Formats: sequence, C-alpha cells, structure tokens
Amino acid sequence: MALTQPTAIRVELGGRSYNVLVGRGLLDDTVVQAREFIEPFAGRPVPIVADVNARKFHGERLATSLASEGHEISWYDVEPGESSKSWESLERLTDWLLDLGITRSDHVFALGGGVVGDLVGFACAILKRGCGFVQLPTTLLSQVDSSVGGKTAINTRSGKNLIGAFHQPSLVLADTQALDTLPDREMRAGYAEVLKYGLLGDAEFFAWLETNGPDVLARSPDALARAVATSIEAKARIVAEDERETSGRRALLNLGHTFGHALEAETGFSDRLLHGEAVALGMVLAARYSARRGQLSPDDADRAAAAIAATGLPSQIAQLDIQSDGATLVDHMRHDKKMEAAGTLPFLLLKGLGDAYMARDVDLADVAAFLDEQLKVPA
Ligand code: GLY
Repeated sequence: MALTQPTAIRVELGGRSYNVLVGRGLLDDTVVQAREFIEPFAGRPVPIVADVNARKFHGERLATSLASEGHEISWYDVEPGESSKSWESLERLTDWLLDLGITRSDHVFALGGGVVGDLVGFACAILKRGCGFVQLPTTLLSQVDSSVGGKTAINTRSGKNLIGAFHQPSLVLADTQALDTLPDREMRAGYAEVLKYGLLGDAEFFAWLETNGPDVLARSPDALARAVATSIEAKARIVAEDERETSGRRALLNLGHTFGHALEAETGFSDRLLHGEAVALGMVLAARYSARRGQLSPDDADRAAAAIAATGLPSQIAQLDIQSDGATLVDHMRHDKKMEAAGTLPFLLLKGLGDAYMARDVDLADVAAFLDEQLKVPA
C-alpha cells in the first residue's frame, strides 16, 4: 500500500500521453499503480531490468507487491555506471527480452537510475520495432529528469548518448522513499537538476529552494515531494511543448550542460565529477557569463552561485583541480552534440533568475577568455 496519496502529473503527448506518479512508498504499491501493464503477464513472469543496487534496496518491495496478486518476476541485473550503456549491454538485454518472448504489446520495467532507464528505454524502442516500458526511477536525477520525456540512448566510442531514440514510457512511478538509501553525493548531484528548473523558468521555485533546499537534501518528506513534483511538472510542460527538441523550448533543459559537458570531458566522464555536479558548476558559469555579457545582474549571478555552493555542490572551477585553460575547455565544447553545422554552439544563458534563453551569438573565443578568468578564481 502506498504510504501517501501520489501526485499525478500528466505528460500530454496526444496518443503517447502518460502519467508520472510521485509519492512515498509507491514501489510497495506497484501492482496496483501499474496494473494495466502487469496484468497482461498473467502466467508469465514480469520482466524487470534493475540496477544491482536498486534491486538490493527495493527488489523485495517490488516482489512482495507483485506476489500479492500472484505475479512472479524475471530479473535482469545491470551493473551501475555508464559502461552499462554500451552496444554489448544492449545486445545482451535485447537477446534476453527476445528469449523471454516479449511482444510488442508487453511492457518492460526499468528499476534504477538514468543508466538503466536509458538502456531499457532504447532496447524497448527497437525491440520488434517498439514495445512498451515503465520507468521505476530510484535516484533523484532520474526522477526529476531522465525518466520523464522519452530520451533514451547508449554511449559509443565517439561520445555519450549518441545512439538513441525518443521513446516515451507508458508510466513513471517516482517513489521518493527510494531516495532514503541514495548516497548524499548522488542526492546533491540530482538536486542540481532540481535547482535547474527554478533557474531556467520558475523564480518562485528557485526562491523556495534557497530556503528549503537543506530540507530537500535531508529527505524531509514534504519538502522532497514538493521539489520532485514541481520539477517533474516543469519537465512535463516543456516536453509537451517540444517533445523532440526542435523548437528550442526543450533545449532550455540543457541550462548548465554546455559548460558542464566541457568539465565532464576534462575530468574523463569519471567519478571525479558526477553529471549533476558538472551541471551545477555549469549553471554557475552560465550565470556568471550572462552577467559578463550584461544580461544578468552580478547580484543575481551571485545568488545562483550561492544557492549551489550552499548545498556542497561545486560552484568554482578551481574546486576541480584541473590543469587546463579556457581554450582546452572550449575545445571540448566543439565536440558537444549540440554543435551546429554552421560552427555555432547555442548557449543557454540567463536574463534573470527563472528566465533562461538560448543565445546563438556566443563567440567561443570570448568564452575561452571568460573561462581563463574563472580558472584564476581561488577555490
Ligand atoms: N535531460 C534533458 C532532456 O530530457 O531534454
């Protein structure tokens, strides 16, 4: 039984619309909340692809819920980490699904963070030309970002997420109780994406986070539920307006990602800098660069940096201890998949706190000079 009444957020995409449910204890109620996707498995095991840690912490809750209505589970384990988003993993997973006899009308369940969600989503996008899937995200980052919106992908030797598809899930169950067992560092990294929604389009939410961020990070149930639901509502609105990132609206979700990508590349896409940490620092840089261009007041740039620093997320490049210069970092940006054929790289910048926009007139030499300045700011 779910411990709280879930909040339902609709992602409106015509015939591909679906609900994202947010609530504490939702996974204990999976058989009820996802009934229409589980019932067709009567007499067959329900396929659940799980991050090994997520299964360790939440597998029993799922098994108990499904067993209460006579369902068994067929588990498929995925090792944590980006290396599981490979061609080899995809091949193994799709072979397993084919061996199980999954049909186009079946749904596969993905339990874990963004790695599992992206891998399962892409496998389901191509399995027999497309079957359904249900996201059971267990990290803050996957609850507020990657499980919603249908971006699915694997990595290749040329870069991250370069092979993939837009394939929407049929349901997302975001159980905030799952975050109780999330390591603090991952919680903070996910929180960067929460702050992002405030910074990009919701000044009131940003101000609320300035006060209530510590409660969210401490997993205070009410604050956490509000932060997760508000973030998902923002993402659902943006995805409904621009599902395939063609109008520029969905691209706003990349706030902090271009600067962040350069820092992730410089640190080898490793545990030295988690994606959310790179986004946090990237948002500070986007704010400071916006101030440098005279579009954001220096006070507002300081406020953005302070909200990030207050959580323990990195807010200055010097904290990363990297030996490089602005030109090297800009070079990483040139390999960003958002780079356009004309040689321009769109940057998400700020006109105010809660007011992001896409700038297409950014001169990369100026960005390099700005980064050189930032590299000199002591930690
Ligand atoms: N994570 C960015 C997006 O879903 O568009």
